[in-house]
Amino acid sequence: MFKEKFSGGIISAKQFDREDIEYIIKKAKEMIELKNSNILQGKILATLFFEPSTRTRLSFESAMYRLGGSVIGFQSGDVSSIKKGESIADTIRTVENYSDCIVIRHSLEGAAILAAKFAKIPIINAGSGSGEHPTQALLDLLTINEEVGPLDGLNIGLMGDLKYGRTVHSLSILLSNFNVNVYFISPLELKMRNRDKDFLQQRQVKYKELTDYRKILNILDVLYMTRVQKERFVDSEEYERIKGFYIFQQEDLIQTKNNFRLLHPLPRITEISPDVDNSEKAIYFKQTYYGIPMRKALLAELMTD
Ligand code: NCD
Repeated sequence: MFKEKFSGGIISAKQFDREDIEYIIKKAKEMIELKNSNILQGKILATLFFEPSTRTRLSFESAMYRLGGSVIGFQSGDVSSIKKGESIADTIRTVENYSDCIVIRHSLEGAAILAAKFAKIPIINAGSGSGEHPTQALLDLLTINEEVGPLDGLNIGLMGDLKYGRTVHSLSILLSNFNVNVYFISPLELKMRNRDKDFLQQRQVKYKELTDYRKILNILDVLYMTRVQKERFVDSEEYERIKGFYIFQQEDLIQTKNNFRLLHPLPRITEISPDVDNSEKAIYFKQTYYGIPMRKALLAELMTD
Protein backbone atom coordinates (compact mmCIF):
# COMPACT_ATOMS: atom_id res chain seq x y z
CA MET A 1 0.00 0.00 0.00
CA PHE A 2 1.27 3.44 -0.99
CA LYS A 3 0.34 5.09 2.33
CA GLU A 4 2.30 2.59 4.42
CA LYS A 5 5.26 2.43 2.09
CA PHE A 6 5.64 6.22 2.03
CA SER A 7 4.65 6.94 5.65
CA GLY A 8 8.15 8.39 6.27
CA GLY A 9 7.75 10.67 3.26
CA ILE A 10 9.22 11.09 -0.21
CA ILE A 11 12.98 11.46 -0.19
CA SER A 12 14.16 9.82 -3.42
CA ALA A 13 12.75 8.66 -6.74
CA LYS A 14 14.42 5.34 -5.94
CA GLN A 15 11.59 4.60 -3.47
CA PHE A 16 9.16 4.24 -6.39
CA ASP A 17 8.46 1.13 -8.40
CA ARG A 18 6.22 1.07 -11.43
CA GLU A 19 3.14 0.19 -9.42
CA ASP A 20 3.69 3.17 -7.07
CA ILE A 21 4.11 5.55 -10.02
CA GLU A 22 0.99 4.26 -11.76
CA TYR A 23 -0.97 4.51 -8.51
CA ILE A 24 0.01 8.11 -7.79
CA ILE A 25 -0.59 9.18 -11.40
CA LYS A 26 -4.09 7.68 -11.14
CA LYS A 27 -4.67 9.60 -7.89
CA ALA A 28 -3.35 12.82 -9.48
CA LYS A 29 -5.77 12.37 -12.40
CA GLU A 30 -8.60 12.09 -9.88
CA MET A 31 -7.38 15.36 -8.36
CA ILE A 32 -7.69 17.07 -11.76
CA GLU A 33 -11.40 16.20 -11.67
CA LEU A 34 -11.86 16.99 -7.98
CA LYS A 35 -10.85 20.70 -8.07
CA ASN A 36 -11.33 21.75 -4.41
CA SER A 37 -12.13 19.63 -1.34
CA ASN A 38 -11.80 19.58 2.44
CA ILE A 39 -9.98 16.28 2.92
CA LEU A 40 -7.02 17.93 4.66
CA GLN A 41 -9.06 20.31 6.81
CA GLY A 42 -7.34 20.77 10.18
CA LYS A 43 -3.97 19.58 8.83
CA ILE A 44 -0.89 21.80 8.66
CA LEU A 45 1.89 21.61 6.08
CA ALA A 46 5.28 23.19 6.88
CA THR A 47 7.33 24.41 3.91
CA LEU A 48 11.00 24.96 4.82
CA PHE A 49 12.79 26.49 1.84
CA PHE A 50 16.47 27.18 2.40
CA GLU A 51 16.91 27.74 -1.36
CA PRO A 52 14.91 29.93 -3.79
CA SER A 53 11.71 28.53 -5.30
CA THR A 54 8.68 29.75 -7.22
CA ARG A 55 6.81 26.75 -8.58
CA THR A 56 7.63 24.06 -6.06
CA ARG A 57 6.78 26.02 -2.92
CA LEU A 58 3.75 27.80 -4.34
CA SER A 59 2.30 24.66 -5.89
CA PHE A 60 2.71 22.71 -2.63
CA GLU A 61 1.04 25.55 -0.75
CA SER A 62 -1.72 25.96 -3.30
CA ALA A 63 -2.33 22.18 -3.32
CA MET A 64 -2.59 22.20 0.47
CA TYR A 65 -5.07 25.09 0.52
CA ARG A 66 -7.11 23.49 -2.26
CA LEU A 67 -7.51 20.40 -0.06
CA GLY A 68 -8.73 22.53 2.86
CA GLY A 69 -5.45 22.49 4.84
CA SER A 70 -3.18 25.25 6.13
CA VAL A 71 0.46 26.15 5.57
CA ILE A 72 3.28 27.54 7.73
CA GLY A 73 6.94 27.97 6.84
CA PHE A 74 9.71 30.16 5.55
CA GLN A 75 11.19 31.01 2.19
CA SER A 76 14.81 31.55 3.10
CA GLY A 77 17.26 30.07 5.61
CA ASP A 78 18.11 33.69 6.51
CA VAL A 79 14.89 34.17 8.48
CA SER A 80 15.00 30.93 10.51
CA SER A 81 17.19 30.07 13.50
CA ILE A 82 19.47 28.14 11.11
CA LYS A 83 20.97 31.58 10.54
CA LYS A 84 21.88 31.61 14.26
CA GLY A 85 23.59 28.25 13.88
CA GLU A 86 20.76 25.83 14.68
CA SER A 87 21.13 22.42 13.03
CA ILE A 88 18.73 20.92 10.49
CA ALA A 89 18.02 18.12 12.98
CA ASP A 90 16.95 20.54 15.72
CA THR A 91 14.88 22.56 13.26
CA ILE A 92 13.02 19.42 12.20
CA ARG A 93 12.49 18.24 15.79
CA THR A 94 10.85 21.60 16.44
CA VAL A 95 8.75 22.04 13.30
CA GLU A 96 7.31 18.51 13.57
CA ASN A 97 5.46 19.72 16.67
CA TYR A 98 3.79 22.42 14.62
CA SER A 99 2.78 20.48 11.51
CA ASP A 100 1.64 17.17 10.00
CA CYS A 101 4.10 17.02 7.09
CA ILE A 102 7.30 18.92 6.21
CA VAL A 103 8.42 19.94 2.72
CA ILE A 104 12.11 20.83 2.67
CA ARG A 105 14.45 22.31 0.06
CA HIS A 106 18.12 22.69 0.90
CA SER A 107 21.44 23.14 -0.88
CA LEU A 108 22.92 20.05 0.80
CA GLU A 109 22.36 16.74 -0.99
CA GLY A 110 21.80 14.86 2.27
CA ALA A 111 19.44 17.38 3.87
CA ALA A 112 16.15 15.56 3.21
CA ILE A 113 17.57 12.18 4.30
CA LEU A 114 18.84 13.78 7.48
CA ALA A 115 15.49 15.46 8.10
CA ALA A 116 13.67 12.13 7.62
CA LYS A 117 15.98 10.47 10.12
CA PHE A 118 14.93 12.86 12.85
CA ALA A 119 11.26 13.39 11.99
CA LYS A 120 8.26 11.46 13.26
CA ILE A 121 6.08 12.98 10.51
CA PRO A 122 6.47 12.59 6.71
CA ILE A 123 9.24 14.58 5.00
CA ILE A 124 9.00 15.59 1.35
CA ASN A 125 12.23 16.35 -0.48
CA ALA A 126 11.55 19.46 -2.59
CA GLY A 127 15.12 19.62 -3.91
CA SER A 128 18.32 18.49 -2.21
CA GLY A 129 21.36 20.28 -3.67
CA SER A 130 22.29 18.73 -6.98
CA GLY A 131 20.93 15.39 -5.77
CA GLU A 132 17.23 14.84 -6.34
CA HIS A 133 13.82 16.46 -6.72
CA PRO A 134 11.42 13.49 -6.75
CA THR A 135 8.06 15.29 -6.74
CA GLN A 136 9.09 17.34 -9.78
CA ALA A 137 9.87 14.09 -11.60
CA LEU A 138 6.44 12.70 -10.64
CA LEU A 139 4.69 15.76 -12.05
CA ASP A 140 6.87 15.47 -15.16
CA LEU A 141 5.63 11.91 -15.69
CA LEU A 142 2.03 13.03 -15.15
CA THR A 143 2.58 15.75 -17.77
CA ILE A 144 3.99 13.27 -20.30
CA ASN A 145 1.18 10.83 -19.56
CA GLU A 146 -1.53 13.44 -20.07
CA GLU A 147 0.00 15.40 -22.96
CA VAL A 148 1.93 12.77 -24.94
CA GLY A 149 0.61 9.36 -23.89
CA PRO A 150 1.71 6.17 -22.11
CA LEU A 151 5.44 6.10 -21.35
CA ASP A 152 6.37 2.69 -22.75
CA GLY A 153 7.98 2.94 -26.16
CA LEU A 154 8.72 6.67 -26.02
CA ASN A 155 12.03 8.26 -27.07
CA ILE A 156 12.86 10.76 -24.36
CA GLY A 157 15.76 13.24 -24.42
CA LEU A 158 17.05 14.85 -21.22
CA MET A 159 19.18 17.85 -22.13
CA GLY A 160 21.32 20.55 -20.53
CA ASP A 161 22.95 20.34 -17.11
CA LEU A 162 22.76 16.62 -16.40
CA LYS A 163 25.56 16.80 -13.84
CA TYR A 164 24.11 19.28 -11.35
CA GLY A 165 20.42 19.23 -12.36
CA ARG A 166 18.45 17.43 -9.66
CA THR A 167 15.25 17.17 -11.70
CA VAL A 168 16.92 15.06 -14.40
CA HIS A 169 18.43 12.77 -11.77
CA SER A 170 15.04 11.97 -10.28
CA LEU A 171 13.37 11.82 -13.69
CA SER A 172 15.85 9.32 -15.12
CA ILE A 173 15.41 7.15 -12.01
CA LEU A 174 11.60 7.16 -12.41
CA LEU A 175 11.90 6.47 -16.15
CA SER A 176 13.94 3.35 -15.37
CA ASN A 177 10.62 1.72 -14.37
CA PHE A 178 9.37 1.94 -17.97
CA ASN A 179 10.41 0.58 -21.32
CA VAL A 180 11.73 3.87 -22.73
CA ASN A 181 14.72 4.92 -24.83
CA VAL A 182 16.60 7.66 -22.99
CA TYR A 183 18.98 10.13 -24.65
CA PHE A 184 21.28 12.12 -22.36
CA ILE A 185 22.24 15.29 -24.23
CA SER A 186 24.81 17.58 -22.63
CA PRO A 187 28.12 19.37 -23.01
CA LEU A 188 30.98 17.02 -22.06
CA GLU A 189 31.50 18.98 -18.81
CA LEU A 190 27.89 18.44 -17.69
CA LYS A 191 27.35 14.76 -18.43
CA MET A 192 25.19 12.56 -16.20
CA ARG A 193 27.24 11.41 -13.24
CA ASN A 194 28.51 7.83 -13.11
CA ARG A 195 26.49 6.99 -10.02
CA ASP A 196 23.25 7.89 -11.85
CA LYS A 197 24.28 5.98 -14.96
CA ASP A 198 25.28 2.95 -12.88
CA PHE A 199 21.78 2.87 -11.42
CA LEU A 200 20.24 2.91 -14.91
CA GLN A 201 22.61 0.20 -16.08
CA GLN A 202 21.60 -2.02 -13.18
CA ARG A 203 18.00 -1.58 -14.24
CA GLN A 204 18.91 -2.32 -17.87
CA VAL A 205 17.65 1.01 -19.19
CA LYS A 206 18.52 1.70 -22.81
CA TYR A 207 20.32 5.04 -22.88
CA LYS A 208 22.71 6.91 -25.16
CA GLU A 209 24.88 9.95 -24.45
CA LEU A 210 25.44 12.70 -27.01
CA THR A 211 26.18 16.41 -27.35
CA ASP A 212 24.36 17.50 -30.51
CA TYR A 213 20.60 17.30 -30.01
CA ARG A 214 19.93 18.06 -33.67
CA LYS A 215 21.12 14.57 -34.56
CA ILE A 216 18.12 12.95 -32.86
CA LEU A 217 15.45 15.67 -32.87
CA ASN A 218 13.46 13.91 -35.57
CA ILE A 219 12.98 10.73 -33.51
CA LEU A 220 12.21 12.26 -30.11
CA ASP A 221 8.73 12.20 -28.55
CA VAL A 222 9.80 14.29 -25.56
CA LEU A 223 12.69 16.67 -25.02
CA TYR A 224 13.17 17.72 -21.39
CA MET A 225 15.43 20.75 -21.21
CA THR A 226 17.15 22.13 -18.13
CA ARG A 227 19.05 25.28 -17.24
CA VAL A 228 22.75 25.25 -16.41
CA GLN A 229 22.76 25.29 -12.59
CA LYS A 230 24.75 28.47 -11.95
CA GLU A 231 24.66 28.12 -8.15
CA ARG A 232 26.47 24.75 -8.22
CA PHE A 233 29.53 25.94 -10.15
CA VAL A 234 32.73 26.37 -8.15
CA ASP A 235 34.28 28.32 -11.04
CA SER A 236 32.11 31.21 -12.27
CA GLU A 237 34.19 31.53 -15.45
CA GLU A 238 33.30 27.96 -16.36
CA TYR A 239 29.63 28.80 -15.88
CA GLU A 240 29.94 31.87 -18.12
CA ARG A 241 31.64 29.78 -20.81
CA ILE A 242 29.05 27.02 -20.76
CA LYS A 243 25.74 28.76 -19.96
CA GLY A 244 24.80 29.47 -23.58
CA PHE A 245 25.83 26.04 -24.91
CA TYR A 246 22.28 25.18 -25.99
CA ILE A 247 19.61 27.55 -27.22
CA PHE A 248 16.57 25.72 -28.56
CA GLN A 249 15.17 27.81 -31.42
CA GLN A 250 11.87 27.98 -33.25
CA GLU A 251 13.56 26.55 -36.37
CA ASP A 252 14.51 23.42 -34.37
CA LEU A 253 10.79 22.59 -34.18
CA ILE A 254 10.61 22.04 -37.94
CA GLN A 255 12.57 18.81 -37.60
CA THR A 256 10.39 17.41 -34.83
CA LYS A 257 7.52 14.89 -35.08
CA ASN A 258 3.92 16.12 -34.86
CA ASN A 259 3.45 14.68 -31.39
CA PHE A 260 6.83 15.98 -30.13
CA ARG A 261 6.59 17.91 -26.85
CA LEU A 262 9.18 20.19 -25.22
CA LEU A 263 9.29 20.20 -21.40
CA HIS A 264 11.35 22.20 -18.91
CA PRO A 265 11.05 22.25 -15.09
CA LEU A 266 11.67 26.02 -15.19
CA PRO A 267 13.12 28.53 -14.49
CA ARG A 268 14.23 28.96 -18.12
CA ILE A 269 17.16 31.31 -18.58
CA THR A 270 18.35 31.46 -22.21
CA GLU A 271 18.23 27.77 -23.20
CA ILE A 272 14.84 28.03 -24.91
CA SER A 273 14.28 31.01 -27.15
CA PRO A 274 11.02 32.84 -26.18
CA ASP A 275 9.71 32.53 -29.76
CA VAL A 276 9.28 28.79 -29.10
CA ASP A 277 6.73 29.49 -26.34
CA ASN A 278 3.74 29.90 -28.64
CA SER A 279 4.15 26.51 -30.28
CA GLU A 280 1.67 23.83 -29.19
CA LYS A 281 4.75 21.61 -28.83
CA ALA A 282 6.10 23.80 -26.01
CA ILE A 283 4.29 22.60 -22.88
CA TYR A 284 6.48 23.89 -20.02
CA PHE A 285 3.80 26.23 -18.70
CA LYS A 286 1.17 23.47 -18.83
CA GLN A 287 3.71 21.37 -16.96
CA THR A 288 3.63 23.89 -14.07
CA TYR A 289 -0.12 23.27 -13.79
CA TYR A 290 0.37 19.51 -13.29
CA GLY A 291 2.32 20.30 -10.11
CA ILE A 292 -1.02 21.01 -8.44
CA PRO A 293 -2.85 17.69 -8.99
CA MET A 294 0.34 15.68 -8.38
CA ARG A 295 1.11 17.48 -5.13
CA LYS A 296 -2.53 17.29 -4.03
CA ALA A 297 -2.39 13.53 -4.58
CA LEU A 298 0.88 13.19 -2.63
CA LEU A 299 -0.27 15.37 0.27
CA ALA A 300 -3.57 13.49 0.50
CA GLU A 301 -1.73 10.14 0.63
CA LEU A 302 0.74 11.30 3.27
CA MET A 303 -1.71 13.09 5.55
CA THR A 304 -4.98 11.14 5.52
CA ASP A 305 -5.47 7.94 7.53
C1 NCD B 1 14.11 23.12 -10.51
C2 NCD B 1 14.87 22.95 -9.21
O1 NCD B 1 14.71 23.73 -8.28
O2 NCD B 1 15.62 21.99 -9.17
N1 NCD B 1 13.03 23.98 -10.44
C3 NCD B 1 11.82 23.48 -10.04
O3 NCD B 1 11.68 22.99 -8.95
N2 NCD B 1 10.80 23.53 -10.91
C4 NCD B 1 14.96 23.35 -11.69
C5 NCD B 1 16.00 24.44 -11.66
O4 NCD B 1 16.12 25.19 -10.70
O5 NCD B 1 16.72 24.53 -12.65
